[in-house]
Amino acid sequence: MGRLDGKVAIITGAGSGIGRASALLFAEEGAKVVVAELDEAAGRETVAQVSAAGGEALQVRTDIRREAQVESMVSRAASAYGKVDILYNNAAIEIRGSATQLSEDDWDATMGTNVKGCWLCCKHAIPEMKKVGGGVIINSASTLSYRVADERAAYVASKGAILQLTRSLAMDYAKDNIRANCLVIGPIDTPLLAQSMADSGDAQGVMDWLLDASLLGRLGDPAEVARVALFLCTPEASFMVGGPIVVDGGMLVH
Ligand SMILES: NC(=O)c1ccc[n+]([C@@H]2O[C@H](COP(=O)([O-])OP(=O)(O)OC[C@H]3O[C@@H](n4cnc5c(N)ncnc54)[C@H](O)[C@@H]3O)[C@@H](O)[C@H]2O)c1
Repeated sequence: MGRLDGKVAIITGAGSGIGRASALLFAEEGAKVVVAELDEAAGRETVAQVSAAGGEALQVRTDIRREAQVESMVSRAASAYGKVDILYNNAAIEIRGSATQLSEDDWDATMGTNVKGCWLCCKHAIPEMKKVGGGVIINSASTLSYRVADERAAYVASKGAILQLTRSLAMDYAKDNIRANCLVIGPIDTPLLAQSMADSGDAQGVMDWLLDASLLGRLGDPAEVARVALFLCTPEASFMVGGPIVVDGGMLVH
């Protein structure tokens, strides 16, 4: 028996990295997974991997920055699987740049994806959760919600905002039995991190710094985040609401 048997989970950005690992794990645990992904081919590949492992997933190409697309993705999820129990706001982008280096488009793309996209998915999934008497929201924060890295002004600002958006969601919807929490994620071996290191112009230097800063001396695996996300979706996490849950290999200890 799976820990998510009978549950319906929307995972944004499930075509890559942590989102794909979460889609595979949630489906393995019995959830029906809605892959809400901008990159259609990547989303299709996740669905193929879930199906090959015997799970159930549906690809709904979605740009979470667009309300009409989010609205129709949530209603597709509800009509295909009958309800929405879990919303995992995983999708995000990182564009390198200090305040003076970033363009208006860079800023809007980052805040639009990382903050507005998260809000829009909540706005449209919460009414579905209320219909079934509750649900779980997981947002993706970062160690960069607390500390800063150079030339990452928009990303850092967006991840700081996720902490407060999560608290706000928790306060407004706990009475509806909807538990919103966020994951404070450290360096995880994904395409996003690889791109970030490449964009720095000193990938090896950044890698050396990360390995030094991590108390475990290694990057995390996407599945190590997915397993914590899974736990938040189970009744074992029934008293956890509004919190940042740290999954960072010890980065914030410094
Ligand atoms: N990897 C890390 O080291 C790290 C560290 C801290 C926090 N995080 C956070 O974890 C989450 C997942 O990161 P990852 O490393 O797996 O990233 P990733 O780049 O591997 O995957 C992100 C996915 O989101 C999708 N996406 C981007 N814009 C979208 C949009 N507008 N609509 C729908 N989908 C969109 C991308 O196509 C991609 O498939 C992000 O919120 C990220 O900020 C990651």
